[in-house]
Amino acid sequence: MTASPLPPPPALVERAAAWVAGARRILCVTGAGVSAESGLPTYRGVGGIYDGVDTDDGIAIEEALSGPVFRRAPETTWKYLLQIERACRGATPNAAHEILARWSRDARPPAEVWVLSQNVDGLHSVAGSRHLIEIHGDLHRLRCTTCDWRDRVDDYEALSPLPTCPNCGALIRPEVVLFEETLPSTATRRLHAQLALGFDLVFSIGTSSQFPYIVQPVVMAKHQGLPTVEINPRETAISALVDLRLPCSAGLALEAIDRVLGGAP
Ligand code: OAD
Repeated sequence: MTASPLPPPPALVERAAAWVAGARRILCVTGAGVSAESGLPTYRGVGGIYDGVDTDDGIAIEEALSGPVFRRAPETTWKYLLQIERACRGATPNAAHEILARWSRDARPPAEVWVLSQNVDGLHSVAGSRHLIEIHGDLHRLRCTTCDWRDRVDDYEALSPLPTCPNCGALIRPEVVLFEETLPSTATRRLHAQLALGFDLVFSIGTSSQFPYIVQPVVMAKHQGLPTVEINPRETAISALVDLRLPCSAGLALEAIDRVLGGAP
């Protein structure tokens, strides 16, 4: 299923654009839905590949992509990592990535636009977002589970089904957060530092908001009486909480807001 092609209601777009124009620090929390228009599948909701369906191995995707399964049966985890990478291969940033990146580049200090993304496809970075926290890491960064070998790859084409370290022969893995693993400390520190500085507008875009650290910025803004906007064709865990919902695709909504702000037509 794809996101509705219906444009967002103009009055809501005007309201969101006015908030963007008046904000000094903006946080955009993003998820798989932002990459949907680049042809990438989401995990759940509209276009979700694993929506309530077990993997070929008869386990939930969350289990296949978990730290315990990676330690016990790394070939299973790698099978799905390879699938996810294959789904991302050749994908390029879409209008939503491009607009967020342009907002972040065009913001004049001390104004800043931050992206907190759960996506491991690296597309916000490719689009050139300046202030980016990839809280679940990036599939394209690999590291050895034993020695300090690290590499950056464009894709997994040259990798075997159970890839090993060219230095020491131990198992390698991508620098992504698997289920039941802790979040990367550098990304977490950067996020906390930015949340402490505060944001005066928070967007939640294309995420089903499964995790507390993804919901928290929206809750914090709400408690502080600051505006919050959700862009998602489907209702999610935070829909009842936000001040404004644009029930459409990320690209359509951001293009509409950007047009009101005087961005590219
Ligand atoms: P999900 O797949 O859970 O949610 C994607 C959301 O995007 C859904 O709410 C869809 O309705 C929405 N969506 C679909 N197409 C859209 C479009 N064109 N524009 C806007 N929204 C659209 O993805 P995440 O919330 O990112 O974690 O999932 C969070 C985490 O769960 C992932 O990072 C991954 C996954 O398991 C790990 O691997 C640790």
